[in-house]
Amino acid sequence: MSGEYGPKRTTTAPAIEVRAASVSVRVPGDPDARLTILEPTTLTLTERRVAVIGANGSGKSTFARLLNGLVTPSTGQVLVDGLDTVRDGAAVRARVGFVFTDPDAQLVMPTVAEDVALSLRRLSLPRAERAAAVERVLARFGLDHLAERSVHALSGGQKQLLALAGVLATDPAVLVCDEPTTLLDLRNTRAVAEVIARLEQRVVLVTHDLDLAAQAERVLVVDRARVVFDGEPHAAVEHYRALMAAEPILGPRT
Ligand SMILES: Nc1ncnc2c1ncn2[C@@H]1O[C@H](COP(=O)(O)OP(=O)(O)O)[C@@H](O)[C@H]1O
Ligand SMILES: [Mg+2]
Repeated sequence: MSGEYGPKRTTTAPAIEVRAASVSVRVPGDPDARLTILEPTTLTLTERRVAVIGANGSGKSTFARLLNGLVTPSTGQVLVDGLDTVRDGAAVRARVGFVFTDPDAQLVMPTVAEDVALSLRRLSLPRAERAAAVERVLARFGLDHLAERSVHALSGGQKQLLALAGVLATDPAVLVCDEPTTLLDLRNTRAVAEVIARLEQRVVLVTHDLDLAAQAERVLVVDRARVVFDGEPHAAVEHYRALMAAEPILGPRT
């Protein structure tokens, strides 16, 4: 299935190297103060399936967004296939697709077919080829019968599948998914999870679904702006459970 919807890849999926990368943000009202939302992090991702778990506000999205340059490191650097996410941002984004929690953030055209066609525009295919490519992409995700449907008329699950289809249309080597099933019911969660599981692309999946996380080859646990565990899935899930068990259920995190 590789390369079916885009240029053929000649290399295997690129490694992602995070080198002492940290992210800090300005604190409103205090020009001198900065808040660190990701402590300096160093790791190399080469596995086909990596999951990222952790509490709300721990820094998962910040980490995920670093991987394709949606967030730029305040210190250190992030390299994909040797390309710097800051210096070579466009080339990195051609290799690393990003799927948001809320598919509405990603779907911009009125109809299903038009939305996929827009994603394919970057490939500069001739008109007829593009139409055929749109059909193939939709068929692959079981959305072909919805081609002329208004994007607004889709269910949450169909929207997320369409958002995935749009990102995968240009055949990125790596897919970063930030809680792609959080807004979905159980049936749609399964549908989206199944599609992701079958992808040959390298996938970095941020999720609160611990069963899904446990299927990864490697799991990162993020807590209070740090990757506090990096390793085998079951040990990672246990680590996360233990962290949460040690927290007061209500009241401020200190
Ligand atoms: N652009 C930003 N400006 C200020 N604070 C931010 C920004 N982005 C994220 N944060 C804060 O950083 C922390 C981590 O955010 P995030 O990475 O979105 O966490 P998660 O995805 O794990 O819920 C949160 O406290 C969030 O409010
Ligand atoms: Mg998040």
